[in-house]
Amino acid sequence: MTKSSRLDGARILITGHTGFTGSWMALKLAALGAEIHGFALAPDTKPALFDLADIWSALKSHTLGDLADYSLLLDTVQRVAPDAILHLAAQPLVLTGYAQPIRTFLTNTQGTAHVLEAARLTPSVRGVVAITTDKVYMPDPKALPFSEASRLGGKDHYSASKAAAELIIEGYRHSLSVWNRPMRIEVARGGNIFGGGDFAPHRIIPDFYRAVQSGTALKLRKPEAKRPWQHVLDLCEAYRLLLERVLNPDEKATGDNWNFGPEPQASIKVIDLIKRLEAVWQPVPLDIETGPPETLNLALNSQKARSQLGWQPRLTLDEALKLSAEWYRAALERPDQLATLTRQQIEAYGA
Ligand SMILES: NC(=O)c1ccc[n+]([C@@H]2O[C@H](COP(=O)([O-])OP(=O)(O)OC[C@H]3O[C@@H](n4cnc5c(N)ncnc54)[C@H](O)[C@@H]3O)[C@@H](O)[C@H]2O)c1
Repeated sequence: MTKSSRLDGARILITGHTGFTGSWMALKLAALGAEIHGFALAPDTKPALFDLADIWSALKSHTLGDLADYSLLLDTVQRVAPDAILHLAAQPLVLTGYAQPIRTFLTNTQGTAHVLEAARLTPSVRGVVAITTDKVYMPDPKALPFSEASRLGGKDHYSASKAAAELIIEGYRHSLSVWNRPMRIEVARGGNIFGGGDFAPHRIIPDFYRAVQSGTALKLRKPEAKRPWQHVLDLCEAYRLLLERVLNPDEKATGDNWNFGPEPQASIKVIDLIKRLEAVWQPVPLDIETGPPETLNLALNSQKARSQLGWQPRLTLDEALKLSAEWYRAALERPDQLATLTRQQIEAYGA
């Protein structure tokens, strides 16, 4: 992969580098020449992409810690003295939010405040790229597709914790001039992200993998829910563009909010996604059940990112599903080759 002018040699601290997206980002940024440091909890799935893809080898340093532990986080940020922080660490699951609301708010909301405060107090940090979600928008069928100006809200703990994090970010952006602290804060709101190496519970493609692995039925909670499906590599590219932006010395603004959604034809029902995944992988028996309420339909208007950042998804939904099927098949049949395969998928996608 060609080195990027602004990222080559840049020191980037990734929060959440032991997770699904964080692992892909660590590899991608390292391939672009950046020096990568991580702060996160230990991987909490078995197996974990972090171990399977040998993310260690891409890291310059690695701190295991909780975002709730502000003094450890501040120490880490000051010791690493990064040029930019990519803030991915979160409790990212709607269902876990119902089971652990306090933990979800501590990690997602207070944790974001901790990251911003540590960044503000560390002069090397030129900017923070904070990853929230399309679920920060107040569910309203009449407001679809959501633009960056749509109303924030959230009718479950995960969504509310991320919308609250965005209010904190807005407060920081407006206060930076009061502190005379030049720092950019960019926010990325993406949809339902999938790709090889996600082993989280209650997510449809990891559930599909587990159904194949165990030979059991795939449980579908909301088969009719329409979601914007996106491959992790398309999001990683969006996060790269935002990191380049916060590192651009000519950029004067204090940061902005960005939607990164798929093409409209990639917003399809869960049941239709499963049929297309079966076509490129293998059929699985289905078990349709009902679960707690979740927003039924979500769609993002990403015109701003297209026109101002030049970002657009490069993978069609079928290409993205094929890449994922290839990765998960390898996880079942030749796990020792996953470190190579993950790097090959990044290289083939390009910067
Ligand atoms: N995966 C998706 O579909 C999706 C969609 C939209 C937004 N997002 C957002 O993208 C980000 C990454 O999601 P993911 O799917 O890679 O999640 P993940 O669960 O795979 O990884 C989460 C990471 O955060 C870390 N973490 C969690 N709680 C922490 C704490 N208290 N202190 C320190 N570290 C902690 C974990 O150790 C892990 O490294 C999250 O902010 C998530 O909300 C994800």
